[in-house]
Amino acid sequence: MRAVFITGGTTGIGMELAKIYAGRGWKVGVCGRERSKFEENFEIHRDNVTFYQVDVSDRTQLKSAISNFSKTTGLDLLIANAGIGYKFKTKVPDFEFSYKMVHVNLLGVMYAFEAALDVMIPQSKGQLVAISSIAGYNGLPGVSAYSATKAGVLKFCESLHLDMRQFNINVTTICPGFVDTPLTQSNHHPMPFLMKAPRAAELIFRAIEKKKMVYAFPFIFSILVRILGMLPRTWYRFLMNRKVLNYSRES
Ligand SMILES: NC(=O)c1ccc[n+]([C@@H]2O[C@H](COP(=O)([O-])OP(=O)(O)OC[C@H]3O[C@@H](n4cnc5c(N)ncnc54)[C@H](OP(=O)(O)O)[C@@H]3O)[C@@H](O)[C@H]2O)c1
Repeated sequence: MRAVFITGGTTGIGMELAKIYAGRGWKVGVCGRERSKFEENFEIHRDNVTFYQVDVSDRTQLKSAISNFSKTTGLDLLIANAGIGYKFKTKVPDFEFSYKMVHVNLLGVMYAFEAALDVMIPQSKGQLVAISSIAGYNGLPGVSAYSATKAGVLKFCESLHLDMRQFNINVTTICPGFVDTPLTQSNHHPMPFLMKAPRAAELIFRAIEKKKMVYAFPFIFSILVRILGMLPRTWYRFLMNRKVLNYSRES
């Protein structure tokens, strides 16, 4: 029996991943702030899935959930997926919400990894996965803290990928483009290459199985954002100030 803990596994990408693993006979721990989302969304494979009501920005709560789950099932894989985003792109950030984003999107990943490593280092095996974003490759207009947290996750994992080899622990970073989930359903701007959540989860599952260091998708979109990241900054500034790419409201 193999076991995976997925933060934010009650809707969207995390839920689809939880369903894939549970369907394959894994023991799955999921967490979220609202139990009702778990109750509504998990009708099949429910025997394999345990829900923990946890806010990932609470280090103690998350540590205790991951530790309790591992005591009964062990822990082969941890997927730090929980994340939040802005409802609107604005030139002046909503700083209060931006701080919350740092707590959830960046510290939430660190807290999850810390708790998982308490189990994985002594057993000298395991895999850590974080869901970053294609938005982490560049400082995008209107979503400053989102880009910053996702870039932070990308670099945090890049370092850990190197450091954890000695413990036989693999670290994978996933950078999705636009995926159709509750997070993006309120977006008011075009979402090129938008993908259905079950398809995105299938691609992520395969990348995790292959123990990729970084997996960014869809392929064409990931190439475009990487090229944007390599451009001289004057060119980047010119392009990103065009109306067709910049949807920021004044405030
Ligand atoms: N959708 C996209 O286009 C896209 C693209 C790139 C990256 N991503 C990343 O993929 C991840 C999943 O996003 P999604 O699109 O699947 O979003 P989603 O459908 O809104 O799901 C987010 C999940 O995280 C949980 N969550 C949110 N805040 C939490 C907190 N403080 N503590 C515990 N759980 C929390 C939610 O449950 P509760 O609300 O009940 O807590 C839910 O289960 C995020 O990190 C997101 O940034 C998404």
